[in-house]
Amino acid sequence: MSSQIIPVEPFDYVVFGGNGDLAERKLLPALYQRQLAGQLSDPTRIIGASRTPMTHEEYRKFATDALKEHLKADEYQEAQVKAFVSKLFYVSVDAKSDSGWDKLKALLDDGGKEKVRAFYLAVAPAIFGDISERIRDNKLITKQTRIVVEKPIGRDLASALELNETIGKVFKEEQIFRIDHYLGKETVQNLMALRFANALYEPLWNAQYIDHVQITVAESVGLESRAGYYDKAGALRDMVQNHILQLVCLVAMETPSSMAADAVRDEKLKVLRALKPITAENVERLTVRGQYRAGASSGGAVKGYLDELEGGVSNTETFVAIKAEIGNWRWAGVPFYIRTGKRMTGRMSEIVITFKQIPHSIFDAAAGRIESNQLIIRLQPDEGVKQSLMIKDPGPGGMRLRNVSLDMSFAEAFAARNADAYERLLLDVIRNNQTLFMRRDEVEAAWKWIDPILKAWDETGQKVQGYTAGTWGPSQSIALIERDGRTWHEVI
Ligand code: BG6
Repeated sequence: MSSQIIPVEPFDYVVFGGNGDLAERKLLPALYQRQLAGQLSDPTRIIGASRTPMTHEEYRKFATDALKEHLKADEYQEAQVKAFVSKLFYVSVDAKSDSGWDKLKALLDDGGKEKVRAFYLAVAPAIFGDISERIRDNKLITKQTRIVVEKPIGRDLASALELNETIGKVFKEEQIFRIDHYLGKETVQNLMALRFANALYEPLWNAQYIDHVQITVAESVGLESRAGYYDKAGALRDMVQNHILQLVCLVAMETPSSMAADAVRDEKLKVLRALKPITAENVERLTVRGQYRAGASSGGAVKGYLDELEGGVSNTETFVAIKAEIGNWRWAGVPFYIRTGKRMTGRMSEIVITFKQIPHSIFDAAAGRIESNQLIIRLQPDEGVKQSLMIKDPGPGGMRLRNVSLDMSFAEAFAARNADAYERLLLDVIRNNQTLFMRRDEVEAAWKWIDPILKAWDETGQKVQGYTAGTWGPSQSIALIERDGRTWHEVI
């Protein structure tokens, strides 16, 4: 089974930071994949923009090399690559001066045809304001203009407010697309399908039937080449404020009246606002901070975080585990255990919903233990959904119970390639569909919950606990959940 491809109308995508890391690894390969799928119609153009002087031809060569490096061999098809790079252009512009903007203006001028025009800011947030203002001052905003921004949207509530304010002075909220690439992941969207396109789960989706929820986003990579950014951010800002809280929202939100952007975002916002505050009084009980030490990952020895850093001193967490609670009727008393970390046992992200035990067993002890039902939504790798059920062990030997899984691996069930999140999101911008993008108040509400945790860590001086690279994190994270008589679901 493969999905239906509906071409999008021609567009101009201007990518600031067009020769940067994100463009090279994600944006250009994602747009190429849409070309391969037949979704880009002429005269679509992708315009790289940055300070570096480069000709159109040099940019096409840069893109060709990027595709060669980041695509699978069978995806890199000479004719398609040629057709794709013929849509690429390049302009050298300076965010901080007038240099180059007249050239961009001339390139974009297509005689008032009113093509969709998207500006993607794949640059440091410090220059979002400068770029937005120059876009406005050079009169590049048409009725069909959108702007796309990437995280980090601030490093706390105050800086997020300031950033939103700066962009908001130039663009209207409905023109601003704040990307959280987790929302573009196939299985994340599937969470909405599972919950709202089946009669089965929704009646059970509450504190009466659900014991607890676990969300794990484990990575095997370490610091990579991002020390400058990461050491100032840490796992709470880098992963929890955005990706993981978005997952919490999709699991916990009430049923929106439709998939319309604001219907969904209104419900997500209510979840963020209902998260119970974590403060200096309870932070040590509800959170764990960790930092990886030397160990082994992907089969080889790896350095510890401090050995990778210049200077070698840091209190930044590369792992965080939190017991969160949502203070509303649906979720009262249901813990949401969340954790994420670098250099963990492997790359694995999943959401586990554990249902409550049956209220009374009719089986005798010989039947064995009755396990709670679990719904496991695997985001990566091996996307899929598993539902565990107790059944009778086959055979004539009496009633013995066994825990088995109804297991649906998407790779096996559908022949479709697993598209990268950016493929969906980049074209949603063109389609003007904001459902999978964060609204301003969502980002701010997420910071409102995160800020007190950061402050509480600071006030209490909560230590970062060491953990060996290649493990599931510090032992305190195991204690966090085991204190409540529960265990982390750990299957790679
Ligand atoms: C990014 C974080 O937003 O997400 C990175 O900044 C992290 O630190 C990445 O590695 C994880 O994304 P994915 O799609 O590989 O799970």
